[in-house]
Amino acid sequence: MDIFNIIFTMVWLMLPAYLSNPAASIAVFATGQGIPIDLGKTVKNSRILGDGKTYKGLFAGIIFGVIVAFVQNIINIKFLNASMPYFTFISAITLPAGAMLGDLTASFFKRRLGMQRGQSFPLLDQLDFVLGAWFFTAIFSKSWFLDNFTLPVIVAALVLTPFLHLLVNVIGYKIGVSKEPW
Ligand code: CTP
Ligand code: MG
Repeated sequence: MDIFNIIFTMVWLMLPAYLSNPAASIAVFATGQGIPIDLGKTVKNSRILGDGKTYKGLFAGIIFGVIVAFVQNIINIKFLNASMPYFTFISAITLPAGAMLGDLTASFFKRRLGMQRGQSFPLLDQLDFVLGAWFFTAIFSKSWFLDNFTLPVIVAALVLTPFLHLLVNVIGYKIGVSKEPW
């Protein structure tokens, strides 16, 4: 596999996870702040997760990610000669669900460190959802994970995701969806 192929495969495999978080942001932006997952509860004067983690965002992100995976499967078969990896029923769910849970876990730790909602935590903010997606997928579908996430694909994701994430957030910030450009 050449480097272009590795990058294309990586983006293809990560797209359901990549698009879950922007879907959460857009759902909240379009329909208003939802109920926070922590229901406003605090531990030692810090919110458990904060207002940036809502049920609305969680479910919008997961559902949209699942739809993305199924649309990719259709595109793969109809237009790409089935040359790309195929998302199984399980991986189509675990990639976006793991991404959203990884993002949630990172917020939990950010709050424990006394960081306010939206405060930047370099690399954690950019990789939390990648690690969550991998972890969750590896647990529920180990063979699919190992077949598709080869070492070059994993390295490409770890190196490129922070840049892609920053790019998407700067766009989100410019069009007014994101509150911060990171
Ligand atoms: N969002 C949501 N529910 C989620 C994840 C995201 O409602 N489970 C929405 C929130 O409106 C959030 C936005 O998407 O503000 C951007 O997500 P993110 O950057 O992860 O949240 P932050 O506001 O930066 O909060 P934190 O510091 O906890 O990461
Ligand atoms: Mg953020």
